[in-house]
Amino acid sequence: MLFDLARPALFALDPERAHRLSVRALALSPRCGPPSAGALATTVAGLEFPTPLGMAAGFDKDGEVPDQLLGLGFGFAEVGSITPRPQAGNPKPRLFRLVEDRGVINRMGFNNRGAEVARTRLARRAGRPGIVGINIGANKDSEDRIADYVAMTRIMAPLASYLAVNISSPNTPGLRALQDESALTALLDAVIAARGAGGPPVFLKVAPDLQPADIDAIARIAIERRLGALIVSNTTISRPALRSRHATEAGGLSGAPLRDLAQQRLRDFRKATGGTIPLVGVGGIATAEDAWSRIRAGASLVQLYSAMVYEGPGLPHRIVRGLEQLMHRDGFASIAEAVGSE
Ligand code: FNR
Repeated sequence: MLFDLARPALFALDPERAHRLSVRALALSPRCGPPSAGALATTVAGLEFPTPLGMAAGFDKDGEVPDQLLGLGFGFAEVGSITPRPQAGNPKPRLFRLVEDRGVINRMGFNNRGAEVARTRLARRAGRPGIVGINIGANKDSEDRIADYVAMTRIMAPLASYLAVNISSPNTPGLRALQDESALTALLDAVIAARGAGGPPVFLKVAPDLQPADIDAIARIAIERRLGALIVSNTTISRPALRSRHATEAGGLSGAPLRDLAQQRLRDFRKATGGTIPLVGVGGIATAEDAWSRIRAGASLVQLYSAMVYEGPGLPHRIVRGLEQLMHRDGFASIAEAVGSE
């Protein structure tokens, strides 16, 4: 209710300022701890998730508020993307609300305070309960991007419930070329070696803008390398029919206009992996029905970000409650049982 009252004021602000204010407000709010495991609890990549709904990367780029996000009802929070060195990102404005479309376009460009600041901050929460994934990226001006991921893996592995290797941001030129078969193999071998034995599971985050041959190659490599999960997907550089005046801004599109594409890619990856690798479904999820449909299509976990802009901090609790009802309505005893059942 508070959010409904504050929304017009927040929407009158530049989107990046509104986002900064939201993070600050969360940082000032008490940490309630993660939700307790109930009917929706599910185990993926050896981790016990109290609910299958997570906060996607990009909201908490510097790992400032993971515990507060868990307190909102998310079963896990993914912080980042974090790069080895601090980075300013692209010139502003670089974040746009597509209100009529319930979408967002961003070309932030991995703005973050760098690994050292994030490490110090995340080290303070070591030992607290809750699943916090750390999403890692490469600096824009890096001469050896694989070396950046290796450095990030070494720094963050001891602090992360899982590492998410992000090679799918459209806002760092050339980054998505790491999704090509030979580059991806070299990258993942290096990351897995750097993680060491007993390190956290490695998740890989992919773009929705992939050809069938790319999907097959990524699926094969993920299976061979025994990745913990594939996160499907990042924002899209495609532009489905949009009404908002910001529709032609450069960057990655997320929110409602991404939903059907992300759902289709999830199905594609389910088919290509045959269910051998868990999938995290993300892109345009805004309701319990959206989350449930993604799970039935093959997602073991789901994440969201853009819908929080429009629906506010009560959204995770609402989705989690709705998911429990849908699971029982359709006669499933657990989330794991429903994965891929469509
Ligand atoms: C993102 N996203 C993102 N992903 C990532 O892996 N690293 C990042 O740094 C960011 N940054 C980021 C900033 C902003 C402003 C947005 C809107 C999104 C992508 C995000 O995690 C997610 O994959 C997509 O936004 C699709 O989900 P939603 O937003 O449609 O629920």
